[in-house]
Amino acid sequence: MTTIKDVAAKVGVSVATVSNALNDKRNVSAAMRRRVLKAAKELGYHPHRAAQAMRTGRTRAVGLVLPDLTNPFFSQLAQAVENTARKLGLLVCLIDSQNAPRGESEGLTLLMQHGVDGIIWCPVGPRLPSPLRSFDRPVVLIDRPRPGFAVVHSNNFMGGQLLAQYALEHGHSRIGLLSGPRSVASAEQRRNGFLSAFPDRIDLAWEVRLGFDGLLPREACDTLLRRKGATLIVAGNDLIAISAVRFLTEHDVRVPDDVSIVGFDDVSWARIVTPRLTTIAQPLVSIGTRAVELLQEYMSGGSVERRPLVFDVSLVERDSVRRI
Ligand code: RIB
Repeated sequence: MTTIKDVAAKVGVSVATVSNALNDKRNVSAAMRRRVLKAAKELGYHPHRAAQAMRTGRTRAVGLVLPDLTNPFFSQLAQAVENTARKLGLLVCLIDSQNAPRGESEGLTLLMQHGVDGIIWCPVGPRLPSPLRSFDRPVVLIDRPRPGFAVVHSNNFMGGQLLAQYALEHGHSRIGLLSGPRSVASAEQRRNGFLSAFPDRIDLAWEVRLGFDGLLPREACDTLLRRKGATLIVAGNDLIAISAVRFLTEHDVRVPDDVSIVGFDDVSWARIVTPRLTTIAQPLVSIGTRAVELLQEYMSGGSVERRPLVFDVSLVERDSVRRI
């Protein structure tokens, strides 16, 4: 079996240099890293990460904790994170916290037991999970901020403002809100952005709060059937919007002829539902990629700003809004 000594001999450097190059240490030039990786590939050398971890205390594995993998937003975000991590030689250990603080704590504990070098985390509740109180390695938040943590997320407030402008441009002023959960910052920022953009021109007919999983409670179903003159329904995310389209269609209410609907996220399903959903696109690949890069900088010993890294969003116009 090819060893690290064979790689060092081929490149003509020390074993330490090869090890530093393979572990992305800052004291190795990019050119040397390329030479080492080329030699390792030619020799078919693969570092034994478990053995390495015993020596270095580093596993080159990172945890990714997300609330709900059945929601395409999070599965698409996980894909962006994993693709970027793999290019850096990092293994991603994925935890689905199932939108529950208990699932979140269990997953975080397991990640720590497996010695991950860092964690990317999308919180489900307002409190800091107890396992993180004793976790002394880097943590980067994704999608939802918490005081004291570096975080990468979209400009949700801007997304709400874009939807308000689009609504008025299409003749909609009497609006119904199917807003996401109060406990989730992204849901609050969206609705606040929408309601504050043109407060004297938007007439809020009603608002119902529900989960981001898209399940419609009785109150939402009853409100959708009454609508109280709302000509446009603004949903907190695409799953809520798609559920509302399906419910209305099943009750012979046509979208957008009878009532228009917009979502938020631009998940893959928004392009295949009928009518195709007009929504706000979150730059998921940029968010996932930047979160991994930030964590890598942290793990390599760099100092990381705790201020939020916020990405602009954009409106994607499809077929679910009628111009009045
Ligand atoms: O669809 C899930 C929602 O939760 C997304 O809008 C995302 O921003 C997260 O906060």
